[in-house]
Amino acid sequence: MKRSARLLTLGLCCLLVLGACTVSAQDNVSVQAQTQPVPADQGVVGERPEAPTAAAVGGFEAPPSQNPVINTLTRSFSARQFAAGEIPVHDIELILFSGARAQSARNAQPWRFTVVTNYEDVAQMHSTTAPGNIVIIISGRVNNVLPTTEFDCGIAAGYIQIAAESMGYGARILVGPVNEIEEQRDHFGIPEGYRALVAILIGHADDALDGFSTATPRSSLSEIVNWVD
Ligand SMILES: Cc1cc2nc3c(=O)[nH]c(=O)nc-3n(C[C@H](O)[C@H](O)[C@H](O)COP(=O)(O)O)c2cc1C
Repeated sequence: MKRSARLLTLGLCCLLVLGACTVSAQDNVSVQAQTQPVPADQGVVGERPEAPTAAAVGGFEAPPSQNPVINTLTRSFSARQFAAGEIPVHDIELILFSGARAQSARNAQPWRFTVVTNYEDVAQMHSTTAPGNIVIIISGRVNNVLPTTEFDCGIAAGYIQIAAESMGYGARILVGPVNEIEEQRDHFGIPEGYRALVAILIGHADDALDGFSTATPRSSLSEIVNWVD
């Protein structure tokens, strides 16, 4: 496995580290849609109202929890079908704020976010799209002071996926379209000094569409955890 792929994978594994950190260089973060203050949440739910049970998304048996963040995490899956429909800009901004809040080594925030709403472009990125879906491309700084760009951007990708799912949307992280995005850097406005690393496809989840039953199982804790007492 390439080193960058290892780092990206490791970064996504760190998603569960949901502690807060101070974003001291907020102006370093590219959230271009942020022209107006984003109003407080209006009706955004803590989890998908009719989210599939943990057992439905690949047989992962997490203990029941009253904590909506835990439930979103333990029921997370990569959406396989989307319903058509616009995503309000307000929701997109909340998702972007969530990604911008991700931790990064030395708070370098070595990412830029590109929001693709043009469906012609979105449809090129995956076979499962529906009109109204959006894609958020995360580009990583090429000359970061630390070799953690992929790691940091992986955490941001995880935050974006979980934020979208917590609001009732379906989401899927994609590396497949990254090379094509890089070939069209100007078209997508990828900033100088950054390289497209990963994209997150987001769209409406419709419970009439089966977007999850083929979600893949996760290893049991007994396979992946050792405790040192
Ligand atoms: C870094 C990364 C890259 C991925 N790239 C793709 C991709 O290019 N195309 C795709 O269909 N799914 C992609 N996925 C989604 C994975 O295939 C999916 O997360 C995995 O199969 C587990 O699916 P599940 O959560 O629904 O069980 C990617 C996921 C990650 C974390």
